[in-house]
Amino acid sequence: MYVVKSPLSDASLKAVSEALQGALVDLVDLALVAKQIHWNVVGQRFRSVHLQLDEVVDTARKYSDIVAERAAALGIPPDGRAATVAVGSGIGVTPEGWVDDTTAVATLVDALGAVIARMRERVEATGEPDPVSQDIFIGITADLEKHHWMFQAENG
Ligand SMILES: [Fe+2]
Repeated sequence: MYVVKSPLSDASLKAVSEALQGALVDLVDLALVAKQIHWNVVGQRFRSVHLQLDEVVDTARKYSDIVAERAAALGIPPDGRAATVAVGSGIGVTPEGWVDDTTAVATLVDALGAVIARMRERVEATGEPDPVSQDIFIGITADLEKHHWMFQAENG
């Protein structure tokens, strides 16, 4: 069922749709992972890591909304359901229970690294079919790479 008419051709829409939907599940999961660690981190660096994690949550939530609404604007129904996120996320398994601060930071370095690699692929994939979506992916990548730098510096 087509409710919203897309400005893109069918061929362009396929590539852009995959990129936007993939980014949505990665960002929803990143927000969940960052909250999980925010609640469970322990150790001498608790306070700084706890607060730093909420900055990642804010970034991930902001961009998940932007990506989902970009999809909708292109006539693609965004799918942010938990089951869809569980199957499609590029982030690996998050540790269960209390997490020491060094492991917490390493978990975020890995999670951000995985999402950034996929986001850079989306930058490449959308440049020709839809530079407007590409612009969104470039902005997301820049912000995620800033967070990635800061977590790497934490364990440096
Ligand atoms: Fe909190």
